[in-house]
Amino acid sequence: MAILIKSEREIELIRHSCKLLAQVHEELREAIKPGVSTKDIDTLGEKLIRDMGCTPNFLNYNGYPASICVSVNEEVVHGIPRKDRILKEGDIVSLDCGLIYKGYHSDAARTYGVGPIAPELEQLIKETENSFWEGIKKAKAGNHLFEISAAIDDYISQFGYGIVTDLVGHGVGTALHEDPQIPNFRQPRRGPKLQKGMTLAIEPMINLGRSDVEWLDDDWTVVAEDGLPSAHYENTILITDGEPEVLTILD
Ligand code: MF3
Ligand code: CO
Repeated sequence: MAILIKSEREIELIRHSCKLLAQVHEELREAIKPGVSTKDIDTLGEKLIRDMGCTPNFLNYNGYPASICVSVNEEVVHGIPRKDRILKEGDIVSLDCGLIYKGYHSDAARTYGVGPIAPELEQLIKETENSFWEGIKKAKAGNHLFEISAAIDDYISQFGYGIVTDLVGHGVGTALHEDPQIPNFRQPRRGPKLQKGMTLAIEPMINLGRSDVEWLDDDWTVVAEDGLPSAHYENTILITDGEPEVLTILD
């Protein structure tokens, strides 16, 4: 499949989808505290999305059983919310969420500390986000896609973290996952040329320890093989002739 270039009308719809998602993330952030279950977060997220008249795009996606992926500590992504998984002080938790507005998808993820957390975890979260911002400095029309990948890789390499290589970012539009795949690590090729009107989810997943991951028996939850914590930061962006527009943040 080719990388789709969105029309102005489509961009307006994706932009709105993304703004609504940014509001959902704001509210979810406030719900993160010790004693809350990962299922509580999913229940709240689904309600917020449906109250906006939108649909959670993760729910039933390839059989995924929830609206929000809630991944705690060594869980990298796609953690399944559970009533008996209670957040406690010192944990870090990644919330990955998306929605559909008038047929158009949005996708974004954040990682938070639960109460006070260890300084090395604060730094992991901060540098994971920073790597996104480093990556998208290359995200403009005329550049090549894998310049984004290389910029994330180069930035992260100074910390000795493990970049997850088994999962990648992607295009976003009338489907949650469109072409292209967007690795968070250096590629031997420069990849497709970026064009104005592409909408892309850039999502570095960064491990405190080694980059190796494995899948739990639930066939969804991806965990760091060495058991060390992992962070995730994702926004849906729009390629323009100038600076990219980061769609899933509030102004
Ligand atoms: N944001 C996630 C991703 O791009 C979507 C998760 S799909 C789900 O990989 F099925 F796990 F919800
Ligand atoms: Co995504």
